[in-house]
Amino acid sequence: MTKARRLGVATPALYAVDPLLHTLTFEYIEGPSVKDVLLDFGLTGVVEERINDIAGQIGNAIGKLHDGGLVHGDLTTSNMLLQSSTNNLVLIDFGLSFTSTLSEDKAVDLYVLERALISMHSSCGNVMDRILVAYRKSSKQWCATLNKLAQVRQRGRKRTMVG
Ligand SMILES: Nc1ncnc2c1ncn2[C@@H]1O[C@H](COP(=O)(O)OP(=O)(O)OP(=O)(O)O)[C@@H](O)[C@H]1O
Ligand SMILES: [Mg+2]
Repeated sequence: MTKARRLGVATPALYAVDPLLHTLTFEYIEGPSVKDVLLDFGLTGVVEERINDIAGQIGNAIGKLHDGGLVHGDLTTSNMLLQSSTNNLVLIDFGLSFTSTLSEDKAVDLYVLERALISMHSSCGNVMDRILVAYRKSSKQWCATLNKLAQVRQRGRKRTMVG
C-alpha cells in the first residue's frame, strides 16, 4: 500500500501494526465502494458523467500501479472506495498484491477486473472499455499489456469451454 501511494495511487493510511493481536489499523475512508455505486446505477439508471469519472479514475490508478511494477491481485469493485469528501478513488485490499514487471501479470490483473464487471455490473454497459481508455493514457506499457490481455481472454474462454 505504501508503494501504491508512492506511485500516486490513493490508499488508506496505515495507523498501527499490532504484532501481538495480528491487527492492522487503517484510516477509515468515508464513502461508498465502486460496487455499491455501480449496483445503484443498475437499479436507478447510469449517470454517464459519474461513470466516466469513476472508470477514468480506475484506469488511471491501475496504469500507475502497473508502470510502477505493482500488481494489485484482487481488482474487484468492492476493493475500490470513492471518498465522499473528494470523490477520489481509493484502492484497498492489497493482500494478494505483488511486484512484477511482466505484462502477463498485469494482463491477468485487468482480466480479473473485467470478469468482475461482467458478472456484477453488466447493466452498467461496457465499463471495462472506458477503464481501458484511461489505462492506455496512464500506462506507457499499455500496448504490451493489452496484447497480453487479448491472449488471456482467449485462454479464459477455452478453459470455460472445456471446464
Ligand atoms: N480503510 C477502509 N475504510 C473504509 N472501509 C473499508 C476500509 N477497508 C476496508 N473497508 C470495507 O471493508 C470491506 C472488506 O475489506 P477488505 O476488502 O480489505 O477485506 P476482504 O476480506 O477482502 O473482504 P471482501 O471479500 O469483502 O473484499 C471493503 O470492501 C470495504 O467495504
Ligand atoms: Mg476485499
